[in-house]
Amino acid sequence: MAMDQINGKVCVTGASGYLASWLVKRLLLAGYHVTGTVRDPGNERKLAHLWRLEGAKERLQIVRANLMDEGSFDDAINGCQGVFHTASPLMIFALIYLFLRNYVLRKKIWYALSKILAEKAAWEFCGHNGIDLIHSTSFLDILDLCHLDLFLMDPMFLASTSACHILFMEHQKVHGRYLCISTVVDNNELVSCYQQRYPLLPIPESYCEQNRAYYEFKHVKVDSLLGFKFKSIEEDV
Ligand SMILES: NC(=O)c1ccc[n+]([C@@H]2O[C@H](COP(=O)([O-])OP(=O)(O)OC[C@H]3O[C@@H](n4cnc5c(N)ncnc54)[C@H](OP(=O)(O)O)[C@@H]3O)[C@@H](O)[C@H]2O)c1
Repeated sequence: MAMDQINGKVCVTGASGYLASWLVKRLLLAGYHVTGTVRDPGNERKLAHLWRLEGAKERLQIVRANLMDEGSFDDAINGCQGVFHTASPLMIFALIYLFLRNYVLRKKIWYALSKILAEKAAWEFCGHNGIDLIHSTSFLDILDLCHLDLFLMDPMFLASTSACHILFMEHQKVHGRYLCISTVVDNNELVSCYQQRYPLLPIPESYCEQNRAYYEFKHVKVDSLLGFKFKSIEEDV
């Protein structure tokens, strides 16, 4: 990206969401003009945290768009130098796959299948329409594929993940698929980090030990190409 494009306009779809909110926060801090899409811009309670972000009043715009309405994202995306597509009707797709796919039901990997199919469709669409797609796979997607039963829904990693996503957009040489995972931890490690960091929260004491295979993921592409260094668990929790 040329320097004069920095602080340009970007779009974050599903801006009210968990991952998206972190992206909006970091993009605003980096000086970008952010167009966030949500299905109901009038829902003050759901959007209050976004409007409290630094820079939001000056550089955040929230607009309506729904994945179920063909073309409803066109205006939000037009003129943007990057689009962070996080909007995802997770529950709807989950139910569709649960009802339609015996295999998925049997194996309980509906989430992983929905991700694979969505990515496949995205590559086809972007290929046909000359869109430069960068796909980032993060921990939850991988864990489902590996049938791991780890507890990782947390603010942890999101600081690193959102920073990494922004680098993907800014870096000229980034194309293709990336693993955006710093480390694999088990439930007990994670719980202990949370207990130390947030002693007043009612966090479970411990989880049962499970006899599972050990996995490591290499994020060498992110390291070597972007020079990105993930934070440690303790720093990122
Ligand atoms: N959270 C994680 O730990 C994690 C880990 C790995 C990957 N991911 C992936 O990252 C993406 C975002 O996850 P998340 O946890 O941030 O999800 P989330 O909090 O549920 O956010 C998703 C957003 O999508 C929007 N949305 C839902 N249905 C929509 C529709 N029909 N049209 C337009 N927007 C719609 C919702 O916004 P409105 O209701 O305001 O419209 C919602 O805030 C998902 O693809 C998820 O699988 C998440």
